[in-house]
Amino acid sequence: MDQLQPQELIIDDRENGIFRVNRRAFTDPAIFEVEKREVFDRSWLYAGHTSEIAKPGDFITRRVGGRPLILVRDRAGQPHALLNSCPHRGNIVCRERAGSGAQNFVCFYHAWNFDLDGSLAGVPDEASYTPAFDRGAMGLKPVPRFENYKGMLFVNYDRDGEDLIAYLGNAREYLDYMLDFGGDDVEVVPGSQAYSMKANWKLLIENSIDGYHAVPTHYRFFVQYLNDMGADNSAWIGQRRQFGIGLALGGGHSVIENPQRRTPVMSTAEDELAQIRARLVERYGAERAHRIADFTRNLFIFPNLILISNWHTIRTWYPLAPDYIEIDAWAALPRDESPELRQKRYENFISFLGPAGFGTPDDVSGLEGCQRGFATCRELEWSDISRGMGKEQPSSQDELQMRAFWRRWNALMRGERGPTDCSDRPHAAQRAAAE
Ligand code: FES
Ligand SMILES: [Fe+2]
Repeated sequence: MDQLQPQELIIDDRENGIFRVNRRAFTDPAIFEVEKREVFDRSWLYAGHTSEIAKPGDFITRRVGGRPLILVRDRAGQPHALLNSCPHRGNIVCRERAGSGAQNFVCFYHAWNFDLDGSLAGVPDEASYTPAFDRGAMGLKPVPRFENYKGMLFVNYDRDGEDLIAYLGNAREYLDYMLDFGGDDVEVVPGSQAYSMKANWKLLIENSIDGYHAVPTHYRFFVQYLNDMGADNSAWIGQRRQFGIGLALGGGHSVIENPQRRTPVMSTAEDELAQIRARLVERYGAERAHRIADFTRNLFIFPNLILISNWHTIRTWYPLAPDYIEIDAWAALPRDESPELRQKRYENFISFLGPAGFGTPDDVSGLEGCQRGFATCRELEWSDISRGMGKEQPSSQDELQMRAFWRRWNALMRGERGPTDCSDRPHAAQRAAAE
């Protein structure tokens, strides 16, 4: 990226309220290579949830940050994140997507076998190796860093840098609101919604925290379906439309927060939802219960994780090319609700965010359309992301939450290692505040 000056990619003029992103950031293979190294290989990446490997011998495999991983719970109950590549000659060791009751992992190629904690347990014809063969060093390699936040398992391929709690920073408060909804006991429903998109990975970030697109892009859902389901859609459209707020949380994280609006689930489970709310008050007090239960949130954790409370969704994705991403989404539901309410929440998740739901195909079409539009990026160089820039408190329909991402992205791409000011505050005001 030496020849590419970062200031060419972002115009961030806080004084005059101008924010633009150069569309080469979505198309250029050289930028993509730098992103892999400077963004993904330096950030905490969501890998899975402890409920997916609840018992000893449970395992899942998935690609995280471009690497194949095994997440496994060993015999002593300890979770591990292991690189799913054989120390012998590299083969993928575990080829299943998920399983339980595993005793060990046997490599397909020459049958080396490994314990659930990754250590090498057996090598066929081991006597043929020299005394220099170091068995202890030939286990499945753990990822450099692996941490658990309230059941959410994160990995980091960078040995240095801050720990997960520091990395989450102010986003932790909002993550807690979402996880506490399940009384600290959220579980991921088995099976994921896996799909792909011919679009740059950063388009899905913008889209996931973009209140502005919701009604025009998903018109059929908000105007027709909600109406047909007997849900009151006036908070989404028309005179009584509520806008909520968008916040930059530091570290590139951000959130959009809206007052809880009625959903089809709420109309059909009034009593149980009232009981759940009463339990939250008992457990956390009225104020915190209000913060947990009376708002919906899309929380973005830099660089590729979104939690969407309205649909109880955890979603992450990774680019395989500048114009191609693979996405996984799961339903994370409170463990102790009735099977009926769980079913309704699950149907709600599938019906909007499933690959054939009301929402996801619209978004895929929208983002693939942007990517096709970027073929004009020599003539039409800039995307405008300035919406709400002059406001004291931008709304969820504005774009502060996206600027927060882009500011952090830009800092990392420039090789800056310290904290980034992701806010809209003009530099002059910042200087004044610091004095
Ligand atoms: S590559 Fe795995 S045993 Fe040879
Ligand atoms: Fe959408």
